[in-house]
Amino acid sequence: MKKQAFTVTAALPYANGPLHLGHVAGVYLPADLFVRFLRLKKDDVLFICGSDEHGAAITLRAKKEGISPQEIVDKYHHQIQDAFQRFGISFDIYHRTSSPLHHKVSSDFFNTLHEKNAFTQETSMQYYDESFHQFLADRYITGTCPKCQHPAAYGDQCEKCGSDLSPSDLINPISTLSGSTPILKETSHWYLPMNAHEAWLTEWIQQGKLDGVQQHNPSEWKNQVLGQCMSWINAGLKPRAMTRDLDWGVPVPLPNAAGKVLYVWLDAPIGYISATQAWATQHGKDWRTYWGKTEAVDRKLVHFIGKDNIVFHAIIFPILLKAHGDLILPDNVPAYEFLNLEGDKFSTSRNWAVWLHEYLDAYPNKIDELKYVLTSIAPENKDSEFTWADYQVRVNSELADILGNFVNRTIVLTHKYYEGKVPEAGELTTVELALFEKLHAVESRISTLMYGYKIREAQQEMMNIARLGNKYLADEEPWKKLKTDPERVPTILNTSLQITRELARMAQVFLPQTSHKIYQMLNVASDEWNTVLPLIPAGHTLNPAEILFEKISDELVTEEKAKLTQTTTPKSPYPAMKELIQFDDFTKMDIRLGTVLSARKMENADKLLVLTVDTGIDERTIVSGIAQHYSPEEITGKSVVVLMNLAPRKIRGVESMGMLLMAEDTEGNLSALVSERGFEGGPTIG
Ligand code: MF3
Ligand code: ZN
Repeated sequence: MKKQAFTVTAALPYANGPLHLGHVAGVYLPADLFVRFLRLKKDDVLFICGSDEHGAAITLRAKKEGISPQEIVDKYHHQIQDAFQRFGISFDIYHRTSSPLHHKVSSDFFNTLHEKNAFTQETSMQYYDESFHQFLADRYITGTCPKCQHPAAYGDQCEKCGSDLSPSDLINPISTLSGSTPILKETSHWYLPMNAHEAWLTEWIQQGKLDGVQQHNPSEWKNQVLGQCMSWINAGLKPRAMTRDLDWGVPVPLPNAAGKVLYVWLDAPIGYISATQAWATQHGKDWRTYWGKTEAVDRKLVHFIGKDNIVFHAIIFPILLKAHGDLILPDNVPAYEFLNLEGDKFSTSRNWAVWLHEYLDAYPNKIDELKYVLTSIAPENKDSEFTWADYQVRVNSELADILGNFVNRTIVLTHKYYEGKVPEAGELTTVELALFEKLHAVESRISTLMYGYKIREAQQEMMNIARLGNKYLADEEPWKKLKTDPERVPTILNTSLQITRELARMAQVFLPQTSHKIYQMLNVASDEWNTVLPLIPAGHTLNPAEILFEKISDELVTEEKAKLTQTTTPKSPYPAMKELIQFDDFTKMDIRLGTVLSARKMENADKLLVLTVDTGIDERTIVSGIAQHYSPEEITGKSVVVLMNLAPRKIRGVESMGMLLMAEDTEGNLSALVSERGFEGGPTIG
């Protein structure tokens, strides 16, 4: 078969948190297996990924962690990159969208589209949070979904029903920054008139034709992808803003666009192109070979993504690529459904997740085990589920009992009976002939499945080799025949060794470390994919046997499940920090030292003390909820920190003027902020 050329991308993960097994099973692992297969096929392939470092996903996370967006992306970019590397995901480059190169490439891309009049500029009223001085788009605004009434839909999407929304669609919109109801304020943005692209998109998606030329074969696309695209198009595409009023992102490269950045879903997919350019520069190549309409005319652009990314890769990015004019469009967009965990959705906020980096820390020698299990349950056509019990069963009764056991028995018996030298086969019986026939069919079956993105089934075909071998040994029982029919034994072991080698060859895609170990035991260099294998010759010396897979203990399963429940309650005993405030908010407070002149308990209230406080400028009454922490005697005479300008409030009929500042410990005990220096006329602090 003719060599093919591919540019393969895996969705750029947001650098706003670590990777969990859901991400791995539903994008990165299948993409990696696909690419490993293509490389073995000697197809020409470039495998691209990187961190997605813009958008509300990042800024909201930064706000939550109380650090800057740059610190967030630096932290998670490196953590994610390291986890990919340790897990053996074989990207040619792992780039990042905060890089200067990406900023340049995406600005240029925007300018090209702008010059070609691909955008329309429109002024409209948009939601605005007055206290945060910010327009609210995407994840900055929530409200009730107009389609399914889900009360927590976002300004760009309802995660419940999957509808694509804009902030103005939301019922009862609320700012996620302040929790308040936003006002409407005028702003101007550049829009992609997606509605103008419906006709060619329909032809391209349904027939695979672009300007009348056949581009791809739609029957190779997943039904879910075709279905989602067509339901979007049939519902009518709407113009979508390609810019945002934000201070984090790629600045809009036009005059009069201060304070505006590119929409993250515009800049992120362009990240595939900037990553390619970075790689090409490092390797003395031309990036157009991988993207250029002329240079890459026969190349297949393939985007591995999760199902929530379909519209961006199969509709919006293709519109952008076509509008650009010089670039190829995707050949396929293999989208994966979601992986669940122990009966529930993966959730970063609830910490309901198995984190890839934590798995790798705990089990650095169980990488192929995880790959095998995740591929076995890959959510190719429907959502699927990871459980530790299932992980144990698949490792123990499939990898260890079938694959490991077959290879181990073959190598051990050869050492035992023939001092580790491959015995010469006698005449093959119908059993062996039938077996070799099956064996030789596997490679082409796996190839067909892999080119068709049926990676789970392809892995099963590899396992079938081990099953075949295991059954062969169990049926032939060389350990018995050694006495009853000794002449058959060399043939049986020779055949088992040939099967073992074929297994190692196919395992190069799915279980690279295991494949490597088997080749080592066989003392054979790894094989090319596309050749008729010569037999391992008689007399060839093997290396000692090595156990391929340790059994997974019940304790491991119990521990891992316990970890999950433990970490759903916050790890820290401290309550989560409140939202960030601005320095301006803080300086509004007038904070001074005062002295408690007297204190009494408020009648019929367990928690309240009524204090008279000398603030240096006046004597005032403050009602304070500290009765369970301080007795009137304890607090009298103490210097305390007073918030002076809190609006007066009547509490149980007593007007309270200001507030004592307190700090809370992990148990909820309050301590008055008592001055160390005593009171000398009320110096202002703060
Ligand atoms: N960061 C996005 C997500 O996790 C995916 C971006 S893919 C790209 O959903 F094409 F935009 F890069
Ligand atoms: Zn909805």
